[in-house]
Amino acid sequence: MKIWAVANQKGGVGKTTSVVSLGGLLAGLGKKVLMVDLDPHGSLTCYFRLNPDNIEQSSYPLFLHEGSVPENLAQKMVWSTEIEGLDLIPASSALVTLERRFGVQAGMGLVISKALAQLQNQYDFVFIDTPPQLGVLLVNALAASELILIPVQTEFLALKGLERMMHTLQMIMKSQGHELKFLVIPTMYDRRTHASVESLRRLRTSYENNIWPGCILIDTKFRDASCAGVPLSKLMPSSRGVKAYRSLLKYLVEHSISSFPQVNHG
Ligand SMILES: Nc1ncnc2c1ncn2[C@@H]1O[C@H](COP(=O)(O)OP(=O)(O)OP(=O)(O)O)[C@@H](O)[C@H]1O
Ligand SMILES: [Mg+2]
Repeated sequence: MKIWAVANQKGGVGKTTSVVSLGGLLAGLGKKVLMVDLDPHGSLTCYFRLNPDNIEQSSYPLFLHEGSVPENLAQKMVWSTEIEGLDLIPASSALVTLERRFGVQAGMGLVISKALAQLQNQYDFVFIDTPPQLGVLLVNALAASELILIPVQTEFLALKGLERMMHTLQMIMKSQGHELKFLVIPTMYDRRTHASVESLRRLRTSYENNIWPGCILIDTKFRDASCAGVPLSKLMPSSRGVKAYRSLLKYLVEHSISSFPQVNHG
C-alpha cells in the first residue's frame, strides 16, 4: 500500500484537484484507492457530495483516543464513492478544534499512520489531502506518507511559498526523525503568460532533482468536474488536464520513490 500526501501551505494550488485526479485515474486502472481528507474545510469531502458540517463517520473520531486508534475504527470511517475502487475517509469541520487543542505537540502525530495500518491490505494507494497550514493534521499526513507531492501554482510568488513549505518539512523531519521524500508538481501552467513560463523556469532551476519534469496545464474543465462531483477522468478522459495527470502518474509509478532525494536537514 503506497501512501502519498498532497501538501502545500499555500492555498488554492491544486492539492485537492491532484488527490481527486490521481485517485480517479488509479481507480480507473482497477486499483483500490483510498482518499483521506484532513482539511477542516473539507473541499475533498464536498467534492464527493458529503457535508463536513454534519458528518460523524469521518477522519475526526480517529483523533479522539489520546493518540491511539481503537481496533477497526479506521474501517468504520470509510465511505465508498460512486466510482468503483475509489473510497473516502471524509473530513468533519470539527477537525479545526484539533489544531487548537494539540497544535504540533508530541504524542498526536501518528494517529493517521496507525489508522492506515489497520487498512493495510485493503488498498493499493492512499492519498491524503491536507490543510494549507502547519498543525497537527499536516504533521499526521507527513508522518504517514512515504512521498509528499507538493503542487505549486506556476505564478509569480510560487518560489516564496515553496520555501516556506520546505522549511516546514525540515522542521517536521527534525522533530520526528522520519525521512521525507518530496516531489514538486507545477500546476495551472499557462504557456501564454510570462508569469507561468518564468516561474516554471525558476522552479526547475531551484528544485532540479525534486521536480516532476512535466506540468499540469490550466484547464477550466477541472471546475466542471467538481460541479459534477466526479474525477475529470470520468467526465472527459481525453481533456488536457487528465492527460497531464496521467503523465504524472506514469512518472510516479515508473520512478521508484527511493530515487527521489529527501528533504535536506537545513
Ligand atoms: N490545472 C488546473 N486548471 C484550472 N483550474 C484548476 C486546476 N487545478 C485546480 N483548479 C481549480 O482551482 C481551484 C483550487 O484548486 P484546489 O481546490 O485543488 O486547490 P487546493 O490547493 O486544494 O486549495 P486549498 O488550499 O484551499 O485546499 C479549484 O476551483 C480547482 O477546480
Ligand atoms: Mg484543498
